[in-house]
Amino acid sequence: KEAFRQSVVNTLERRLFYIPSFKIYRGVAGLYDYGPPGCAVKSNVLAFWRQHFVLEENMLEVDCPCVTPEVVLKASGHVDKFTDLMVKDEKTGTCYRADHLLKDFCKEKLEKDLTISTEKAAELKHVLAMLDDFSAEELGAKIKLYGITAPDTKNPLSEPYPFNLMFQTSIGPSGLSPGYMRPETAQGIFVNFKDLYYYNGNKLPFAAAQIGQAFRNEISPRQGLLRVREFTLAEIEHFVDPEDKSHPKFVEVAKLEFLMFPRELQVSGESAKKMVLDEAVSKGIVNNETLGYFIGRVYLFLTALGIDKERLRFRQHLANEMAHYAADCWDAEIECSYGWIECVGIADRSAYDLRAHTAMDEKTAMEMKAELETKGEVEFQVCTLGKNVTIKKNMVAISKEKKKEHQRVFTPSVIEPSFGIGRIIYCLFEHSFYTRPSKAGDEQLNVFSFPPLVAPIKCTVFPLVQNEKYEEVAKRIAKSLTAAGISYKIDITGTSIGKRYARTDELGVPLAITVDETDSVTIRDRDSKKQVRVNVDEVASVVKRVMDG
Ligand code: GAP
Repeated sequence: KEAFRQSVVNTLERRLFYIPSFKIYRGVAGLYDYGPPGCAVKSNVLAFWRQHFVLEENMLEVDCPCVTPEVVLKASGHVDKFTDLMVKDEKTGTCYRADHLLKDFCKEKLEKDLTISTEKAAELKHVLAMLDDFSAEELGAKIKLYGITAPDTKNPLSEPYPFNLMFQTSIGPSGLSPGYMRPETAQGIFVNFKDLYYYNGNKLPFAAAQIGQAFRNEISPRQGLLRVREFTLAEIEHFVDPEDKSHPKFVEVAKLEFLMFPRELQVSGESAKKMVLDEAVSKGIVNNETLGYFIGRVYLFLTALGIDKERLRFRQHLANEMAHYAADCWDAEIECSYGWIECVGIADRSAYDLRAHTAMDEKTAMEMKAELETKGEVEFQVCTLGKNVTIKKNMVAISKEKKKEHQRVFTPSVIEPSFGIGRIIYCLFEHSFYTRPSKAGDEQLNVFSFPPLVAPIKCTVFPLVQNEKYEEVAKRIAKSLTAAGISYKIDITGTSIGKRYARTDELGVPLAITVDETDSVTIRDRDSKKQVRVNVDEVASVVKRVMDG
């Protein structure tokens, strides 16, 4: 696994899929740039996300600022609860995540210490299972008990204490208005709920979506692109009436079969099982229909991108793992060389956030009201929209009849699929990567077998030899590809054809067009290496057909 990962990472860095940020200044842990092919892959993934969710399901897309005032994140619970427990090397001040240290210690002992007794092994396994439940004191006690020291220096460690992962800032020049870089895009949607509901014709259910940067000051970023300090999130907040079971299904997902790993299987020590989605919903394994629907949609999205379905599973959170806002959560986990990685979280946030903002809204409103009253100013307004639907703060009131007394007033529930785009892309890199021997058999060549949908460039055009006639043909082909909206790269270097094929395979380009005559060319498929001869005027339409599948 290590060797495989090293090949993938070396290729990715050498071909500038990504670059450690600020490298010439020795870099900053947890920050990465996407280079040209990485940018193209990311933009293809996001374009497909928009197509698959926003367009196919009529979602309302928004784009909110990253800088967020403190009051919003105080209401959402992030100021008080978005923390990890940290320990410090008492001599150097280097910080570590307390649970990571304990986890690494237990895993290493279990895997490498052959003299370990059965009782000790059982104890360490228990610690691993309980890790997310431990308080700061319990973590500290275990770290002491096992004599765990700072990994880099072996110095003693401080007691664990909570560290808030948000980057703090202030808004405006006075420095008096505190703010944070958003840790999730979701809050931008929640605070706009009333307006979005109105925009949607005062109707539920509806979903709002947002793509944007999220910031988390991770204590110890690790595993390359998987745990970073700034990353792209693509989030959907689907608002429903909790009593309405007739959620519209835009796409049929009921018959899908894939690996599911409900809480019960995890507790009994079994492994994930293949299940048909509608059976899992009807048997109550997934106890929320809308959540089940999104699990199906996420499965279709990831597999269309090229994620191997045998290395994709949906794992339900154990009770002790859930975020402070979640009533239930299923993660889409993808297996890569680092193990099973959470790439998409599909959470039932119930009415947590809308209620939290309502409460904060009311508090702020009362303060504002008091202030206005002392100044003897205008009367306070309540927002009333439409005849039989009233929105007061974040609650909606719906009545089937026109009479107000039959209104049912409630706060909508939220189902939230949240996609870590960088994690999905990294797993896609690993799932698409393979090596094959060169023609001479003297070296291994790298290939990314991206599906056309995500490939950074759809085809390469190269004249077989450097001469004006062939370069002219290459230009003609390039023009027709541009007109057809197909991305390409022209390679006019004089290197051997074999080397040029190897170079484009390494970038995951599906097709290579070699100009070896003036009226026809060969088109080579990256994976089968098969070639067909095509008339120059037909190249763009043939490539388009292949790209469209
Ligand atoms: N709004 C819900 C939310 O933010 P989350 O599970 O904290 O939920 C969503 O994050 C997704 O973001 C995760 O499933 C993961 O893919 C990605 N993610 C979280 N922390 C990350 C980090 N430090 N680096 C890269 N991706 C991360």
